[in-house]
Amino acid sequence: MDLQFKRHRRLRTSANMRALVRENHLSADDFIYPLFIYEGENIRKEVSSMPGVFQVSLDNLQAEMEDIVAHDIKSVLLFGIPKTKDECGTGAYHDHGIVQEATRFIKERFPDILIVADTCLCEYTSHGHCGMVKGDKILNDESLDLLVQTAVSQAKAGADIIAPSNMMDGFVAAIRKGLDEAGFQDTPIMSYAVKYASAFYGPFREAAEGAPQFGDRKTYQMDPANRIEAFREAESDVAEGADFLIVKPGMPYLDIVRDMKNTFNLPIVIYNVSGEYSMIKAAAQNGWIDEKATVLEMLVGMKRAGADLIVTYHAKDAVRWLRENQ
Ligand code: PBG
Repeated sequence: MDLQFKRHRRLRTSANMRALVRENHLSADDFIYPLFIYEGENIRKEVSSMPGVFQVSLDNLQAEMEDIVAHDIKSVLLFGIPKTKDECGTGAYHDHGIVQEATRFIKERFPDILIVADTCLCEYTSHGHCGMVKGDKILNDESLDLLVQTAVSQAKAGADIIAPSNMMDGFVAAIRKGLDEAGFQDTPIMSYAVKYASAFYGPFREAAEGAPQFGDRKTYQMDPANRIEAFREAESDVAEGADFLIVKPGMPYLDIVRDMKNTFNLPIVIYNVSGEYSMIKAAAQNGWIDEKATVLEMLVGMKRAGADLIVTYHAKDAVRWLRENQ
């Protein structure tokens, strides 16, 4: 045989050989685990569209946090479901709002755990939009002040990182200024810089009880068809003082993750959203795919695409499976 070709398979001959040349690795440090904190008592309710994900009340948070610590997970992303909602989302920026209370609870008992607070109004507004509403319009500048109040009250309660997800223009600039003026110069902003108007958020809206009551989010979240727009969004957020950039969702947007990684020198975060989680769970429950192998493949694919961090509902399972593989 005088064929000329390269023998790529030489580096795949055994598990140890493959481990030797592996380019990307997952660890518990990569993950941020979302939590849904429910205002009320004695609640630990599984989200029907997200098997394995629970809404928990404060009195069940101790056990949940112990489990998280046992999985070596070091950061949590907090969402709140308030008892009452109103037009201007008061529960989001109330000093005794559910996220503020949960933050204090965790900080007192688990001081080393990093708390990332989701800064948005949609779980707290009666109309379910991420900003103030007039008629059928979502107001931009009028919403900024409430978002600043939300961020400052979250920082006061002890949040380590502020993560605004509302997609109002100028939210990073406004929140940075508000945090600085309130003495929180050292609190970083993890901006949902590139957030698409995605159908993959469906199950989350059940989990967080924050579905819009009219219309959709297309006047503030991005068109899934667009790539260049992601650069414009991220450039603004970097200029306004963001410390991390989130791309959301993950799986259908890995090209954007690579673009962001190649362009900006900030940590890039993927939000592996609810719909991505639920699809895998449903297929696994039907016996159609191998859940462990699929999840680990997806997560390492996200790192390969350029994600430094991954917000994922699979975090606990992934850590357990990584341990099993060691
Ligand atoms: C709130 C928010 C949403 C998600 C995170 N923060 C929903 C939305 O924008 O409609 C989605 C997360 C997920 O689907 O897992 N603004």
